Amino acid sequence: MPKISLKKINSLKKNKIGISALTSYDASFAKLADNCGIDIILVGDSLGMVIQGHDTTVPVTVDDVIYHTRNVSRGLHRAFLVADMPFMTYSDPNQALENAVRLMQEGGAMMIKLEGGEDQISIVEHLARHDIAVCAHLGLKPQSVHKIGGFRVQGREPKEAQKMIDNAKALQDAGADLVLLECVPNELGKSIKESLEVPVIGIGAGPFVDGQILVLYDILDITQGSTPKFVKNFMIDHDSPINAVKAYVDAVKTGKYPAAEHCFS
Ligand code: KIV
Repeated sequence: MPKISLKKINSLKKNKIGISALTSYDASFAKLADNCGIDIILVGDSLGMVIQGHDTTVPVTVDDVIYHTRNVSRGLHRAFLVADMPFMTYSDPNQALENAVRLMQEGGAMMIKLEGGEDQISIVEHLARHDIAVCAHLGLKPQSVHKIGGFRVQGREPKEAQKMIDNAKALQDAGADLVLLECVPNELGKSIKESLEVPVIGIGAGPFVDGQILVLYDILDITQGSTPKFVKNFMIDHDSPINAVKAYVDAVKTGKYPAAEHCFS
């Protein structure tokens, strides 16, 4: 199967075919997801919680993400590989450029993701000017968990929702190639998707965006304890991880996931 490029991701959006994405942190799971036809693999800083056992993503370092991205890249033949910029590794344009280059050169990332708002516009501009593909993460931004007071739905107030729409447009205009939207009401997901030309990938952002991403360990029922409302356990109806991931890809492509019970109003 041909490799997934940014051009292909844009054509999936144009043809209204759901863009399927998952996190992965190692070569074996990356290979499994790749063999199931996943479009995007994200080496998320969620690795701080999923792999390292921290309560938040705050302790994750660039070296951690490089290590996992390098391992994941060895497992991939087809999927587009995105790596997260950890907390405080993009606080000024030059620091951001230096760390993005490391994620690409040492880790093999094709795109970097950063948690963005108006303060990140100049950073996205700087990276885009250097031809680095950028995904801007809006909505619930886990790196700000201590400031926002927990992992909770964002953008329920009209003023906050409007600000998110404006920031999404500004980040796109600054050169972001993708937007990832976490934990927002369906209607806000829809408005942001309709305001942008670049693809919008959601996690708990409802069914109206261009694609979906989930944490692989959540869909395979590996995560212990409670999981967020937007998570669907694909092991319930499937007898193996490979069949569960295939079902996830199919459910995203055909719009069967997310269902109403996975969404916020
Ligand atoms: O780090 C992560 O896993 C993420 C999720 C939103 C997919 O950013």
